[in-house]
Formats: sequence, C-alpha cells, structure tokens
Amino acid sequence: MKHVALVTGAGQGLGLRFCTRLMAAGFDVVVTDRDLDQARAAAQQLQEQCVAQAGRALAIKLDVASKSDFHHALAQTLEHFGALQVVVNNAAVTRTTPLMQISPEEFDAVVGLNLRSVFLGCQVLGAHMAAAGYGRIINMASLAGQNGGTATGAHYAASKGAIVTLTKVFAKEFAASGVTVNAIAPGPIDSPAVHAAVPGERLPGLLANIPVQRLGDADFIGDLIVQLARPEAYFTTGATLDVNGGLFMR
Ligand SMILES: NC(=O)c1ccc[n+]([C@@H]2O[C@H](COP(=O)([O-])OP(=O)(O)OC[C@H]3O[C@@H](n4cnc5c(N)ncnc54)[C@H](O)[C@@H]3O)[C@@H](O)[C@H]2O)c1
Repeated sequence: MKHVALVTGAGQGLGLRFCTRLMAAGFDVVVTDRDLDQARAAAQQLQEQCVAQAGRALAIKLDVASKSDFHHALAQTLEHFGALQVVVNNAAVTRTTPLMQISPEEFDAVVGLNLRSVFLGCQVLGAHMAAAGYGRIINMASLAGQNGGTATGAHYAASKGAIVTLTKVFAKEFAASGVTVNAIAPGPIDSPAVHAAVPGERLPGLLANIPVQRLGDADFIGDLIVQLARPEAYFTTGATLDVNGGLFMR
C-alpha cells in the first residue's frame, strides 16, 4: 500500500525537493503552501517529472499559522487519498536581522510562526495518526538551533532550538501509538534560500568555514526523510539528525 506524505511550505525550496524524493520512493505527496498557486505549480511539476511506480501529487493551501487550515488540509487529504501517514513540518520564515536590531514584533513573528507551525502540525495531524495507530513526523530544525546560528538571526536560531524540544515532547506523547517524531538539523544546504542569503562573492568565505568545504545536498536530506518515513524507522523517535558538514559535532 502506498503511504501518503504531507509537506508544509513545499511550493519551492527544500520542501519541493523533499516532495520529489518522497514521490520517487513511491509515496503519494500532498504539496502544501500558504500560496495555493505556488503549491499547484509545484504539484504539476512533480507530476510531470513522475516516473513509473512513483506516487501522485495533490496541492492544498495550508498557512501553517492557522489551526483550521491544518484541519482543512487533513480533511482534503483524507478525501483525496483516504489516509495520511507522514508529515514533514518544513515551512518556516528565515530572517538575518542583526541581533541588537531585532524588534519585539519581528522576534514574535519569527519565533511564533516557526514554533506554532511545528506545534500545530504535530498536534492536529499527529492526533489523527495516533488515532490510526501509525505515523511518521519529521520536523525541520537547523544547525542554528544547536550552535546559535551564523548567517541567520537570533529569533530564527531560538525557534529552531525549540523545535528540537517540541520534537521530544511530541515523540513521548505519541510513542506508544505507533507515531514517531524526529527532527533534522541541517547546516547550509545548496538551496535557493542559502544562495539568496549568501551572495556569490561571499560564498567562498562560507565554504572555507565548513569543515567539509561544501554546501549540503538537498536530495540527501530528502532521502533521509524517506528513511525516517518508512515503517522500519519505528525505533528512531525523539531524535535530531545532524547534517552539517562537520560544523557542529556532539
Ligand atoms: N536551506 C537551508 O540551508 C536550511 C538549513 C537549515 C534548516 N533549513 C530549514 O529547512 C526548511 C526549508 O528551508 P528552505 O531553504 O526551503 O526555506 P525557504 O524560505 O526557501 O522556504 C520556506 C517555505 O515555507 C513557506 N512558508 C513560509 N511561511 C509559511 C506559512 N505561514 N504557511 C505555509 N508556508 C509558509 C514558504 O512559502 C516557502 O515555500 C525550513 O524549515 C528551514 O528553516 C534550511
């Protein structure tokens, strides 16, 4: 039986790449974003790339700040695919404002959105999966949440650190119900967001500070998500997996 995976903030960037890897691995994919047109375009692109045995793609509008949007996305997913087994809480806002210039409003907006999205994704979609007795949740944290961040802002870093904590809290809550909850903490990945934050002339400086001297590979993280999304991953829960080129070693 094909499993169904819902990815938040999947209209572009890493979320879209994760959808590609999930579909190639045979999952049906629900491409969600706050911008429905972008989600639809992404789903169409995925369907066109799709090879034999790959999954199908459905686009749904989901603003991760809205609890009712999560309920609506769940209902639409169940109506279309009949089930939901995997959730990737990927959507986030990234800001690089220098520490002493962050206003209280900007702090609340970034921390609020990044934490609330994971909280609601785990609470609303996790409750459904726990009731069904099976589920896999993967939360996108960040190296910034572990080392305080380099290129990103304090609010972003703090929110990503708290996502690691929320991952453990929900992992405990759902462990006996067949639902695992894990986080991935990437360092700088070869992605539109990193290239936007670090212009070409500053890239060599960034690379020089990464022990392996390269940016990370988005498809590798997509394949890690596929691994965590499989039934065989039942023994890994509450974990944060590091993919950071050696920038942070436990
Ligand atoms: N790119 C990296 O190197 C890197 C490193 C560490 C962690 N991450 C994490 O990986 C995830 C994806 O990163 P990315 O580089 O693709 O980021 P991105 O900024 O390119 O994409 C974020 C996506 O989230 C969506 N989004 C924002 N607010 C939303 C909302 N309210 N509702 C629904 N969707 C919303 C955006 O539309 C966008 O598609 C993020 O959680 C990010 O923190 C990325």
